[in-house]
Amino acid sequence: MSASGTGPGPFPGTTAGSAAQKQNASTCALLTSFDEHLAGAGRSRCLADARTAFAETGFVKAGFLAPDLVKAHLGAEARALAAAHGVRRDMALAETGFTPRRMRNVRRREIHRHGRLIPALYGHPALRRALGHVAGEDVLECPYEPEQYVITELTVRGDTHGWHWDDYSFALVWVIDCPPPADGGFVECVPHTTWDKDDSRLHRLLIDRPPHPLLLAPGDLYVMRTDRTLHRVHPLHAGRRLIVNMAYASRSDLGKPVSHETMDALWAEGPATPGGFT
Ligand SMILES: [Fe+2]
Repeated sequence: MSASGTGPGPFPGTTAGSAAQKQNASTCALLTSFDEHLAGAGRSRCLADARTAFAETGFVKAGFLAPDLVKAHLGAEARALAAAHGVRRDMALAETGFTPRRMRNVRRREIHRHGRLIPALYGHPALRRALGHVAGEDVLECPYEPEQYVITELTVRGDTHGWHWDDYSFALVWVIDCPPPADGGFVECVPHTTWDKDDSRLHRLLIDRPPHPLLLAPGDLYVMRTDRTLHRVHPLHAGRRLIVNMAYASRSDLGKPVSHETMDALWAEGPATPGGFT
């Protein structure tokens, strides 16, 4: 759980003292409701079905993982953090064939400092156990802290999180806001692919393996095998897309060298220069 009382608080008007204590109590109550929800009737069947789908495609919708109350509080926290700490990024990354990143984002550091529920849920053992059931293997906290949890927000026509793979094996994405598919902002993916940072072969892959669009709505969660699934967010035409991305590692990730250059560029201090890093 994050430290509290030194910043502006997760929501407008909250400061230190009793307000922080109330929010800590509220976070604990939400984690309890999360645990009770996961232990509820039918959840084992949902996890088993999700595991089968995930093994086949490297992707599964998993809205069943969290109760509506938890989703609502997480969404409120993410909206407040995006408004207070979002930084606009506009760059193209060489390691993924110069695909663009045009978005606002909130780094793990600001979420950890000013948020409560997102950091608490990220490290919550019951969530990682559930994800382990879906993945069919241990799901571990990401050893590289800046990548553990981030918020991304697409608000302007043309905003996109361009084609890429992630450095670590798994992502759990909480979809807070997203437009209807006609307005863009939906996820596209090419499963069972791998990332060569020296030669991504990205456009060759897209010609040989046409991507699948994924239909998502506010309140959805999804789990993706992000190191073996080429994926992007289709450029936004209208509306807003706001998500919380939680990244997790596999056991095999812990033993491999990871260079982090795309993440370091994307989450650098201060606003990125338009077209930078190209
Ligand atoms: Fe990603």
